[in-house]
Amino acid sequence: MGNPKLGPHLRNEAQIPKGFNQLLEKLHDIPTLPIVATKVTELINNPNSSSADIANVLKKDQVLTAKVLKLINSPYYGIPGGVTDVKRALAFLGFNTLAQLVLGLSVFSLFPGEGSEEFPMLDFWRHALATGVASEVIAKKIKHPKPEECFTCGLLHDIGKIVMHQVARETLFTIVRHARKNQISFTQAESELDAPSHAFLGEHIAAKWGLPQVIRTTIRYHHVDVRNSETILPSAKPSIYIVAVANALAIEMKIGHSGDYSDGGLQPYMYEMLGLQASDMETIQNIVREEMRRAGAFLSAAGGGAAREDDTKADSNGAPPSRGEGSTAA
Ligand SMILES: [Fe+2]
Ligand SMILES: [Fe+2]
Repeated sequence: MGNPKLGPHLRNEAQIPKGFNQLLEKLHDIPTLPIVATKVTELINNPNSSSADIANVLKKDQVLTAKVLKLINSPYYGIPGGVTDVKRALAFLGFNTLAQLVLGLSVFSLFPGEGSEEFPMLDFWRHALATGVASEVIAKKIKHPKPEECFTCGLLHDIGKIVMHQVARETLFTIVRHARKNQISFTQAESELDAPSHAFLGEHIAAKWGLPQVIRTTIRYHHVDVRNSETILPSAKPSIYIVAVANALAIEMKIGHSGDYSDGGLQPYMYEMLGLQASDMETIQNIVREEMRRAGAFLSAAGGGAAREDDTKADSNGAPPSRGEGSTAA
């Protein structure tokens, strides 16, 4: 059983879940990150990288470049007159935003398909996007130096669930059914069933893909109370709090779904550690609702089974009605 002292949304950071090692053996079924995305990750990790480097890397993958341009030309970015080449996109967005976008889109595109009744992929990606958008909104509010990096951290925080869907579907379904039956969080269900943790699994696959350390850390610790952790550098903690708050808000706002049947489990310390107050949460939620109009563009640009025709419109699970901007995103 899980540790009751940690509360329903948290797991012990030192605990290696039962069955985890058997799961690792199945990970060869998980697709590898495209070479271009790996190269972009290297550029993100290298402080000497320039805009010219990313333009050169993107030249080698026209399919990915087309997806990137499609997204950039959506209302999400709203560049006047649109852009038809990476150079112009860079002039508007800058290296960091473009690099994070390529990374997010690459991972997104690895998992096409509609998922299953217990775990609809579209709902999952909506939750992921809402968490990404909320992470960026929070990051900007607290003047975090890299809000675009926080977006990617939020977007990918639950990637372990998709991996589980791929390699241990029955385990995932058992967790989701348990969470639904008891109206509890996915994490609590995992813990009560002694199931492998999606956070562990997600971090493992992120490491395998060579994703930047900050993404790996937020994936690994987004359900952990890291206030007193000595294993995590103090500089890494804000990103973890940001994603934890963003995830809780996305669940509370019912945007998308990722097998969590709780109320989100937002705890004051999570935002207080970021210098925010309860009243800020309402403001942030309002901005997220507005920003989620961009979500359809992301789903559409990623392509594959993750998007359907009507998904270019605003989210139907909590966001306000679309103003029709989705049509330009397709
Ligand atoms: Fe999670
Ligand atoms: Fe989540």
